[in-house]
Amino acid sequence: MKSAVVIAYVTLIGTATAFVVPQARDTSSNSTTIDDTSLLNYVLTLKNLENAFYAGALNSFTQDDFVNDSLPTWSRARFEQIAEHQQAHVDLLSYAIGSGSAQACNYTFPYTSPSSFAALAEVISGVCVSAFVGAAQYITSSDYLTTAAAILSTEARHAAWIAGPVNHQNAWSGSFDTPLSLDAAYTLASQYISGCPSSNPTLPVTALSPLTIANASLGQASTVSAANNVTVEGQYVAFLSGLTPTFVQVVGGQVVVPATIMGTSYAVLTSSNTSVDDSTVTAGVALIQSPYNSNGVLEVV
Ligand SMILES: *[C@@H]1O[C@H](CO)[C@@H](O)[C@H](O)[C@H]1NC(C)=O
Ligand SMILES: *[C@@H]1O[C@H](CO)[C@@H](O)[C@H](O)[C@H]1NC(C)=O
Ligand SMILES: *[C@@H]1O[C@H](CO)[C@@H](O)[C@H](O)[C@H]1NC(C)=O
Ligand SMILES: *[C@@H]1O[C@H](CO)[C@@H](O)[C@H](O)[C@H]1NC(C)=O
Ligand SMILES: *[C@@H]1O[C@H](CO)[C@@H](O)[C@H](O)[C@H]1NC(C)=O
Ligand SMILES: *[C@@H]1O[C@H](CO)[C@@H](O)[C@H](O)[C@H]1NC(C)=O
Repeated sequence: MKSAVVIAYVTLIGTATAFVVPQARDTSSNSTTIDDTSLLNYVLTLKNLENAFYAGALNSFTQDDFVNDSLPTWSRARFEQIAEHQQAHVDLLSYAIGSGSAQACNYTFPYTSPSSFAALAEVISGVCVSAFVGAAQYITSSDYLTTAAAILSTEARHAAWIAGPVNHQNAWSGSFDTPLSLDAAYTLASQYISGCPSSNPTLPVTALSPLTIANASLGQASTVSAANNVTVEGQYVAFLSGLTPTFVQVVGGQVVVPATIMGTSYAVLTSSNTSVDDSTVTAGVALIQSPYNSNGVLEVV
C-alpha cells in the first residue's frame, strides 16, 4: 500500500472501557508459564461469550426483523450456522478441559437491532481472531494446537463473511492478521461480561487501563489519554497491525498515527519501544479500523 494514494481516513470504532473484572485475577501470572488448561479456559471464556452473543441475538430477532433492518435475506440462516459453530467450539473445549471448565457468564451486549448486532459481530469476531492468534504461542500440546488452529480459521471465515457480504465493508487486512496479547484481548472482551460464576477458574489475564486515541486518523497527530492516571507522556504507543508493531513515542500528549496500518488494528501503551507483551503494556486497547479497497485506497463504505 502506498501511503501517497491513501485517503487518510480511519474510524476509531471502539475503545475498551473499564468494567468490573469478573474473576479474581492471578496477578503473579507469568506469561511464559501458562499451562494448557488455563490457556484453554481463556479461549473457552471467549467462546462462551461468542456463543451467548449469537444465540441471544437470534433469539431476539426474527427473519422479518433481519430483512426489515436491510440485512440480506440469507444472512440470518447463516448466522444460525455460526451460532452452531460457536456451540460446537464450546462443547469441544469444555470436553477437552473436563471438570473445572469455565462456565458461561452473564453478558451485556450493546446491540439494539439486527444491523447493530451485525456491526458488533464484526468487531467481536475480529477481536477473537486476534485473541486466538495471540494465544497460539502458549499452547504446548500438539493436539490442542490442531484444535485451536481449526477453530481460528473458522473464526476468520466468520469475521470475513460478516464484514464483507453482510456489512458491505472491506473484509481484508495486510499479509498477516494481528495477534493480541491475552491481557489486551481479554480487556476488549471483558467490557461485555457483567458477571461470572464464582466457581469459574482464575484466568491468566489482567484487564488493562483503558486507552483512548482521540479521532485517530492515519498520518495525523492524535491525542493520547489513559484512564487511572496512567502516564502517557514519554511512553510509546504500539500500533499493532500484522506481526510487526510500530512504536510511536507520546510527545506533548500526542502521537502521529502511522499511515501504514491496515485492516483491523489495535493500539496499546507500552513502556518499551521494542516489544509488546503483558509485562510492558500499561494501557489499552484502542481498536482502529482502517479498511482499504482493492486499489489499496482506504475507505469506509
Ligand atoms: C517467569 O517464568 C520464567 C520461566 O519459568 C522464569 O525464569 C521467570 O523468573 C518467571 N518470572 C516471574 C516474574 O515469575
Ligand atoms: C416489516 O416491515 C413491514 C413493512 O413495513 C411490516 O408490515 C412488518 O410488520 C414488519 N415486520 C416486522 C417483524 O417488524
Ligand atoms: C446472572 O444473571 C442472573 C439473572 O439476573 C442472576 O440471577 C445471576 O446471579 C447472575 N450471575 C452472575 C454470576 O452474575
Ligand atoms: C474529535 O472529533 C469530533 C468530531 O469532529 C470533535 O467534536 C472532537 O472535538 C474531536 N476530539 C478531539 C480530541 O480532537
Ligand atoms: C489521579 O491523580 C489525582 C491527583 O494525584 C488523584 O486525586 C486521583 O484520585 C487519581 N485518580 C485515580 C483514578 O487514581
Ligand atoms: C527506544 O528506547 C531506548 C531506551 O529505552 C532509547 O534509548 C531509544 O532512543 C528509543 N528509540 C526510539 C526510536 O524512540
